[in-house]
Amino acid sequence: MILETITVGLDERSYPIFFNVNKLSMLGSLCADQKLGQRVAVVTNPTVGAWYFEPVRESLVSAGFSVHKIEVPDGEEYKNSDTLKNIYDWLIDFGLDRGSFIVALGGGVIGDMAGYAAATYLRGIPFVQVPTTLLAQVDSSVGGKTGINHEKGKNLIGAFYQPRLVMIDVAVLDTLAEREYLSGLAEMAKYGVVLDAEFFRFMYDNVEKLLARDKECLLAAVKRSCALKASVVEQDEREGGLRAVLNYGHTIGHAVETLTGYRQYLHGEAVAIGMAQAAKISESMGFSSSDDTERVLSLLSKLKLPLELPPFSPSEYIEAICHDKKVRDGGLNFVFNKNLGSFTIATVADVSQLLRICGIGE
Ligand code: NAD
Ligand code: GLY
Repeated sequence: MILETITVGLDERSYPIFFNVNKLSMLGSLCADQKLGQRVAVVTNPTVGAWYFEPVRESLVSAGFSVHKIEVPDGEEYKNSDTLKNIYDWLIDFGLDRGSFIVALGGGVIGDMAGYAAATYLRGIPFVQVPTTLLAQVDSSVGGKTGINHEKGKNLIGAFYQPRLVMIDVAVLDTLAEREYLSGLAEMAKYGVVLDAEFFRFMYDNVEKLLARDKECLLAAVKRSCALKASVVEQDEREGGLRAVLNYGHTIGHAVETLTGYRQYLHGEAVAIGMAQAAKISESMGFSSSDDTERVLSLLSKLKLPLELPPFSPSEYIEAICHDKKVRDGGLNFVFNKNLGSFTIATVADVSQLLRICGIGE
């Protein structure tokens, strides 16, 4: 069986992403091909583990690996140094050495945390991403951002550390909760809006299939999303400039998450609101037409994503957007869509002007 593959080209840190439907059973042989070591710790949580740990374990055992399971609690609130310490404790107790590797089996929380454990344990051991949410399949499993949260903020502790392979099975999305799934579609739409007009049209024309989790359509859409992300990461692995395009919709999206205490919206939902506002702002600045804005809003609403900003005052939004000193001193770097499928990044000195375009403030 030949799996569809793309390569993230980063010289000696290059790695393959395999795409398939119902082929978790091939994970073991793919890991064996990469010569990652003999012993493996699979990091997962009870929700994902209940569905997918056994097939993953069987596949790894059949390929000759000695498999250990590390189960951490489910939830963003556990993406912290306490859980990370528990992971290190297990790795040490299992006697994992430099000839061992980690498999991250789960969504972005597991991928980020297991990846960071791999980056730091014994100064770095190989790791493999097996992303099981749509967000993790199209975004977090590719590109090597790993880390944990700190009580003072999200993802404040981390490392750029690339996986050795990514195995994406879109069939695992069948068990994902609807809101989580739709939230992943927001990140997918982002690639179309700022990087690929043809992909935007593909999503627009295939909304029903995407909503129905049609496997053939998903396979094509996830693969295109990863190819677009890979191309950005290949040019700017450490976010010196270009990679910031992946933050389209995130400036206002993050503010929405902060203001609502991370309780009201999933990340992708907040990003959808941020993208809707970014589209309006881009039009108002002359980067795109009203037709372009209409198309963005229409796609997001067909994908059942929220578009409206929750009601907070201009000063609350400004505080949430400008929380770090860098923004306050130097102006805000904002990602605009240029028509559909292209982008520009520019510094905005007056954040209240952006907010007025979105209907916040006089
Ligand atoms: P998540 O990992 O919390 O998963 C969401 C929920 O879905 C969890 O309850 C999980 O147990 C469950 N789940 C996962 N796969 C499932 C499946 N196949 N079937 C049933 N349930 C399943 O959330 P997420 O949205 O995947 O990831 C969010 C995290 O990703 C955040 O911590 C964010 O900071 C991080 N992130 C990282 C990057 C990056 O580049 N590294 C990019 C974007 C987001
Ligand atoms: N999710 C944004 C990035 O990987 O840069």
